[in-house]
Amino acid sequence: MTAITPRVFSGAQPTGNMHLGNYLGALRNWARLQESYDCIYCVVDMHAITVAQDPAVLMQQTREAAAAYIAAGVDPEKSLLFVQSHVPAHAELAWIFNCVARIGWLNRMTQFKDKAGKNREKASVGLYVYPTLMAADILAYRATHVPVGQDQKQHLELTRDIAQKFNTDFGRDYFPIVEPIIQGPGARIMSLRDGTSKMSKSDPSDYSRINLTDDAEAIRLKIKKARTDSEPLPETMAALEGRPEAANLVGIYAALADKGGDDILAEYSGQGFAAFKTALADLAVDKLTPVTETMSRLMADPSYLDSVLARGAEAARAIAAPVLDDVHEIVGFLKR
Ligand code: TYM
Repeated sequence: MTAITPRVFSGAQPTGNMHLGNYLGALRNWARLQESYDCIYCVVDMHAITVAQDPAVLMQQTREAAAAYIAAGVDPEKSLLFVQSHVPAHAELAWIFNCVARIGWLNRMTQFKDKAGKNREKASVGLYVYPTLMAADILAYRATHVPVGQDQKQHLELTRDIAQKFNTDFGRDYFPIVEPIIQGPGARIMSLRDGTSKMSKSDPSDYSRINLTDDAEAIRLKIKKARTDSEPLPETMAALEGRPEAANLVGIYAALADKGGDDILAEYSGQGFAAFKTALADLAVDKLTPVTETMSRLMADPSYLDSVLARGAEAARAIAAPVLDDVHEIVGFLKR
């Protein structure tokens, strides 16, 4: 059986517009990690159908997600980029992990509770076992590092538990115990309308998020309308405790500028939000316009995107196949 080598895996769902939270919490870090790791980035369409999707829209958004990855700096010449449903190993390994994970573990997943809401009986079974598919995504490549936003932390802990239990149950040190990479002020970007809920694709208010398809005018307008409070900005991030909207805007500024929050406040402390918001809008437009423009250029060439995704899937299948062969042997399936 092959040895474990350092490898990065991550993915995002093609369920709506990619936004600033996805960019700062995930995509931008994915691009940076390509310099030091073998990286595998996946558009997780099988996760998307755990809630109802319009098939035609799903197809469009799957390409759009791939375009966002490339526009954010994922280079298909350096990293593998593909669509989850194109590599059957994900579903196969997920089934085996469904038999390793315990119901009690899944019952504790806060994202399931949030997404299923009050009517849990009506949620799909897929939504419930979503985290076992996520573990399969990562471990089908025996990936060791997973760059994500803060909201995925609990799912990655479950991935670690599944790997550990598999290794213990079968007495083999086969799967690595993955390390989450959750970094900096971009790891948890909140809604522009409510600093206590995260920026999300599913928020009904488009003013809550900056989409990676927004033009400069839309970005400026959304930042101008972003909720704030009436206090001046303080000298430190610690002093923003209890002011979630203000803390979020400073966090976004810091993440975009690649600086610490306190460095930003050193410049704006004692001031209200007017000048700060103008500077933040300028910075956001400056950083996001190249991403937006590349995305729309790529979306105009679907055959290029499809060829990148086909090439990525082929390479991904070649990495996952021997892992699945090993797993079959370990659990006692007859050789196919
Ligand atoms: P998804 O599609 O919700 O989000 C994609 C990535 O963006 C991050 N993110 C955020 N980061 C900071 N602030 C926010 N407001 C924000 N919103 C989203 C997410 O943390 C994520 O990194 N289950 C995953 C997709 C997935 C996956 C995987 C990830 C499937 N298999 C295997 C890693 C490894 C999800 O729904 O992400």
